[in-house]
This record gives sequence, structure tokens and C-alpha cells, in this order.
Amino acid sequence: MYAFCLYVVLLFAYKENVVHFLFNNACVRLLRFAKQKMLMVSRFRYLKGFLVDVLMNLIFIVIFVMKNNTERKMRIEENYSLEKHNTFHLPVKTRWFMEYASEEELGRILRDEYFQECLSLHIGGGSNLLFINDFNGIILHSQIKGISVAEETDDSVLLRIGAAEKWDDVVAYAVSKGWGGIENLSLIPGEAGAAAIQNIGAYGAEIKDVIEAVEAYNQLSFEKRTFTNEECLYGYRSSYFKNEHNDPYIVTYIYIRLSKKPQFSVGYGNLKEELAKCPKVTLQAVRDAVISIRRQKLPDPDELGNAGSFFMNPVVPAAQYEKLKEQYPEMPSYPAGEGKVKVPAGWLIEQCGFKGKSHGPVGVYEKQALILVNLGDARGHEIALVAESIRTAVNDRFGIEIMPEVKYVG
Ligand code: EPU
Repeated sequence: MYAFCLYVVLLFAYKENVVHFLFNNACVRLLRFAKQKMLMVSRFRYLKGFLVDVLMNLIFIVIFVMKNNTERKMRIEENYSLEKHNTFHLPVKTRWFMEYASEEELGRILRDEYFQECLSLHIGGGSNLLFINDFNGIILHSQIKGISVAEETDDSVLLRIGAAEKWDDVVAYAVSKGWGGIENLSLIPGEAGAAAIQNIGAYGAEIKDVIEAVEAYNQLSFEKRTFTNEECLYGYRSSYFKNEHNDPYIVTYIYIRLSKKPQFSVGYGNLKEELAKCPKVTLQAVRDAVISIRRQKLPDPDELGNAGSFFMNPVVPAAQYEKLKEQYPEMPSYPAGEGKVKVPAGWLIEQCGFKGKSHGPVGVYEKQALILVNLGDARGHEIALVAESIRTAVNDRFGIEIMPEVKYVG
């Protein structure tokens, strides 16, 4: 009976890939215990005590295995489909897919020789990726979750957030607590870690405005480093982590400071109009207004594959803009620092006649020309081709180079 229980537990442990279980003290203890009791049971007089001990040990094992299973969620898959891991829903595969649930597991992966030899890419929610081909390497994905209060004062709260938290869940949580600063960034797809790397922005706000620090692991030296906001070198949709010339880092946690006495930033065009419908401006009202605008203007990736803005808004010298303005008086713009002007890429693309048009299985969204959509069975290279023809057309007509915000892979 005892041997049978032991067998079942070991089988379970093996099946669940809890390999380290075998090396654990508990197992050694269990085997020693079983041997001892087997000797005793032959004399029968210890039967009652033996059964109690067996029960106690089984409980101990079950707790141990459950603990192992909750703490060690490392997942390794071979020839794994990435369809659910990219919001274009491209049917690409990766040779290996690895998901880790703790910094220790990440450390183990980074130190692994095979990992070091392979091509690897860390992804978040896949909402900013364009896979051109299958990925012949290792795709890494974090499962480090959790939102905790790292510091609290009368005026503010500092949150420590696991990189794998869904960004919009973080916003919903903050709004429900009455903490302001990220409500304008509602409904942006993706995960918290990638949001900090990408410096997501919308409706007059950017995540850099609330980031206090970022915890990350150096992929080469395996050292953990905490970056201050300044060290993150944030710019428009850019950061230290996005610059390929810097050491590669994997973000594990981000720290954001939110206000208990929120100041609303509602000046952005259509947000102002949407909020005018509300009797009172509250955090929830701002979140609801942003969600409503996004739902009206942007396609839901679950229904129509897309990666949000495909291009970044180009920043041009003010002199170039003034010249273009003479020819196109209606050309919109935003100030972008001294002597520089940001022009909405959506406007440039619309002027070139792409808005609402489809090119085989690839479409340019009818309500926002900045967004390319997968109309069904598009492949990465087809999307890239349409993007290239858009870039060329904008350059030919306006002399402005627009750059993809989406990262090409493969
Ligand atoms: N416009 C057009 N035609 C279009 C789209 C835009 O003429 O098809 C012009 C209009 O003049 C409009 C202006 O562009 O007033 C700005 O458009 P919108 O408010 O939609 O903003 P955007 O500059 O196109 C940026 C972000 C979006 C973010 C919105 C709202 C980038 C690359 N995109 O878009 O972010 O939601 O502002 O703040 O900066 C994303 O990054 O994935 C994303 C959706």
C-alpha cells in the first residue's frame, strides 16, 4: 500500500515535470521512512502507528507537490504555435517556448548553456510584434505576476508590478482603488513589463510619467539591476531597453507611483469631447471615456488581428513642416520639442489613399489609417509588404520617412 502511494506520488511528480522533486529532501526522507516501517510492519504490532505515519507523510507529500506546482510553473514547449501570442494572430511557430514564473527560474534559463547558444526573444503580450517567419530559437515569456504596495504616503502609493500582469488589469485595479495617473492608458493591450519597455502612451499620457523604477536582469552578466526613471532614458515609444546597442535586459518588475489626489489630464481632443457627456470627472469616468473612444476607433485584436499603431508619428524639423503646410494647410501637428514638430502618421497615410483599403488579406483600418489589420489568413511578409508600400508612398508624397512602431521578427 505504502509503496503504491509512493509510486503514485512519484509518477505525478514526474508527469508534472517536477524533476527536482526527486532530489528533494522530502523524497529521501520518505524512502528512508518507508524502509523503516516496512521492517516494523512485518511484526504487525506497529500497524496502527504505521498507518498514522503513512497518512501524515502522504499529507506532507501532497502539500509539498502542490507547493512545487504553484511555485515552479516553468513551462517548456517544443514546436509551439505563437498564434495566441501575437495580436496579428499569425500562425507562426517557435522551436522552443519557455515560460518562467519567478526570478530564480529566469536565472536558471539565462545561465543554461543551450539557451546561451540559441537565438532568443523575450515577448510580452505580443501586441507589438510582426512575425515574418517561424522563429528558429527560444521564445521566452514571463509569468511573474502580482501587484503589491511597495510604499504609501498620504498623497501617493508606489506599486510594484510583475512584468506579466496584463496592463489593463493594472489600470482597472488602480482606478478601483482611487489611485490616479494611468487612467488615460486604459485598454492598451499588452503586459506591464512590455508597457515600460515600449513607453506606451495615449490621450496625453505616457507610462514614463509614473514609472519610478524598473527591475531587470542582464542577459549577459545575469546581474539584477534596478533602473531609475532617468536611467530608463525614456523618449517617444523608446527606452534604454529598446536600444539594440545597449546590453540586453529582461524586465521582471516595474514600480509606478500613483496619486491619491489625482490631477486629471483631459485636454486631448476627443477625450475632452467624450468627457463633456459626464456630469463629473472622476477616475472611472476618464477610464470609461478612454475605453469608449478606443472601442470606437481601434479594432479589437481578438476580433480583427492587429498590433495597434503600425507606425510611429514622425517628428520633422519645424522648417520642413512650415514648407509642407504651405502646400497642405490642413496638415495637423503637435509640438515635439524645440524646432521640431510631430505629424500624425495616420493623416499622412490617409492622404495617400490607403485608409479603408485592402490588399489581399491585409487591410488598412477604415477608422484609423495607422493600423494594419489581418483580414483573415494574412502572413507576416504580406503585412510587411503593405507596410513598405505605405512607407514609400508617404515618402514620395511628403518627403517624410515613417518608421514602424511594430517590431519585425525573422
Ligand atoms: N488622423 C487622420 N486619419 C487617420 C488617423 C489619424 O487624419 O486615419 C489624424 C487626425 O488629425 C487626428 C490625428 O491624426 O486628429 C491624431 O489621431 P489619433 O488621435 O487617433 O492619434 P494618433 O496620433 O494617430 C496616437 C498613438 C495611439 C494612441 C492615440 C491616442 C502613436 C503611434 N499612436 O495615435 O497609440 O492611442 O495617439 O492618444 O503614437 C498605439 O501606439 O498602438 C496606439 C494606438
